[in-house]
Amino acid sequence: MPGLAGVPATRSNISFVDGARGILEYRGIPVEQLATHSTFLETTYLLIWGYLPTKAQLYQFEEDILHQRRVKYPIRDMIKCFPDQGHPMDALQASVAALGLFYPLGEYQLTDEHYTREAVVNLVAKLPTLVAMFHQMRQGNDPVAPRDDLSHSANFLYMLTGQVPDPRVARIFEVCLILHAEHTVNASTFGALVTASTLADPYTVITSAIGALSGPLHGGANEEALAMFGQIGDATQARSFIQERLARKEKIMGLGHRVYRTKDPRALVLQQLVKELFKIYSPSPTYKIAQEVEQVCMELLAPKGIYPNVDFYSGIVYEKMGIPSDIFTPVFAISRVAGWLAHWREQLSNNRIFRPTQIYTGPRQVEYTPLQARG
Ligand code: ACO
Repeated sequence: MPGLAGVPATRSNISFVDGARGILEYRGIPVEQLATHSTFLETTYLLIWGYLPTKAQLYQFEEDILHQRRVKYPIRDMIKCFPDQGHPMDALQASVAALGLFYPLGEYQLTDEHYTREAVVNLVAKLPTLVAMFHQMRQGNDPVAPRDDLSHSANFLYMLTGQVPDPRVARIFEVCLILHAEHTVNASTFGALVTASTLADPYTVITSAIGALSGPLHGGANEEALAMFGQIGDATQARSFIQERLARKEKIMGLGHRVYRTKDPRALVLQQLVKELFKIYSPSPTYKIAQEVEQVCMELLAPKGIYPNVDFYSGIVYEKMGIPSDIFTPVFAISRVAGWLAHWREQLSNNRIFRPTQIYTGPRQVEYTPLQARG
């Protein structure tokens, strides 16, 4: 089955998607409820340990994360040597791989609770610092040190921009992190599962997942969608742009999904967030273009079950917050690390190495031709 479409790859009790009705639940809780009431770190706890933490458990988790936001100097020096023009997703992947060098398994087992907790805290706490650090250093600035009085989301925006965000903006960003935290066995999570199944360490697992997320058919689509709105330039040009693109058999970025046959529930929440942001800042002309693209695609693509996905509106939200477009996918990673780690733990609880089979379509028993005899 190409792309393993419809093939169950694992049993999981982390999240649930109903693609026909547009339902997404984390550990049974609808994502909309978490977006309204939860924080990213509470949602992370829920995803990884399977239940909502008590006040004391949440406090301890938040404290642990707070104390692990900083990264070691050799990592900072390494990031300084990265090329300024390199993509931040590549920088993040390299940084996380390097991070693993500093936290070896040692005498622990992969499943020891102490080791698991250290890895979870390290990765959740440090990914935002790594993303912001590369962004500052590629501009020739010193990294902005994390601030202990700021929440996870506010602190990231602060480290990225050097400005403490408006609390309303920080809350909207927090909701974005909650919405992106988990989504069943998508490509990057499957990448994480495959690597986890070899009993590689969690830093390597997350490195694999970051690589898979970076592609334009997956997490990279948010950057591409915003670039597409920019190319369209004006809402009046949307129809002809989409028609021409479809005539060339090209995809419209931010639309379509392997599972959803209706509008992605996360896109619905993101659209609301766009409107909330417009109350804080002035409305963005890009939104008009996006709405027109959606309208045209409803006519042309919805009959095939192709609707806006999570990446369609997220770029507009992030752009309005002043996040550069090549940081959109790294932002996805600092959220999705929660889901990847939850799946890593679940995989180890009942592990068998992933080793599918193939249908061989090549020649057999071919005689070796010596180099000098080849044309
Ligand atoms: N624009 C136009 N046509 C599309 C789109 C699209 N965005 N998505 C799917 N189609 C069409 C395909 O051309 C194909 O048509 P055909 O049967 O006439 O050949 C049909 O729908 C099925 O498409 P597939 O690519 O086979 O669907 P698949 O389930 O393999 O892919 C995917 C899903 C990768 C998300 C696809 O819809 C896509 O490429 N979308 C654009 C990229 C994107 O937004 N990715 C983000 C997804 S969400 C996430 O990963 C976080």
